[in-house]
Amino acid sequence: MRTLEIGAKIQICSHIELTNEQKSVVEAAKKATSGSYSPYSHFKVGAAVLLDNGEIVTGSNQENAAYPSGLCAERTALFYAGARYPEARVRKIAIINRVGNNFGDKVCSPCGSCRQVICESEARAGAPIEILLCSATEVYVIQGIEALLPFGFGPKELGC
Ligand code: THU
Repeated sequence: MRTLEIGAKIQICSHIELTNEQKSVVEAAKKATSGSYSPYSHFKVGAAVLLDNGEIVTGSNQENAAYPSGLCAERTALFYAGARYPEARVRKIAIINRVGNNFGDKVCSPCGSCRQVICESEARAGAPIEILLCSATEVYVIQGIEALLPFGFGPKELGC
């Protein structure tokens, strides 16, 4: 028997410690929470994606009375980025949640399906995507989806 240990290094920063580029992506994610349609959970999520062409594309969670038909903020943003700028590579993604006027006191962590879609975007980009999980006070800075989705299933598994 062999044991494989999986570890990940996550940098925890305060908002003022972020670079200006990181701050602008986080700010866009905060603004994007305003577009959230979340009459069922009242949990507003904003995501912002920085592309290698300099564009920042945002998304928010869009709920539905038939619950599974809704979509998370991260996938709304990533799918829009893919549809609008199919040639661009995703460099960074920031995620934050808000309840009422208050941003989360814990960082907002992507669900399994969003991790899978970030994994695909990373494969398309050909380089690790920087993932910024934000709370009102802190940001977890994660260099690549591997830390959040170890042993992910990606295009390589299909020989692509
Ligand atoms: N949600 C997101 O938009 N992103 C996440 O990473 C976690 C959850 C949304 C889905 C649903 O509209 C609400 O938050 C509560 O689950």
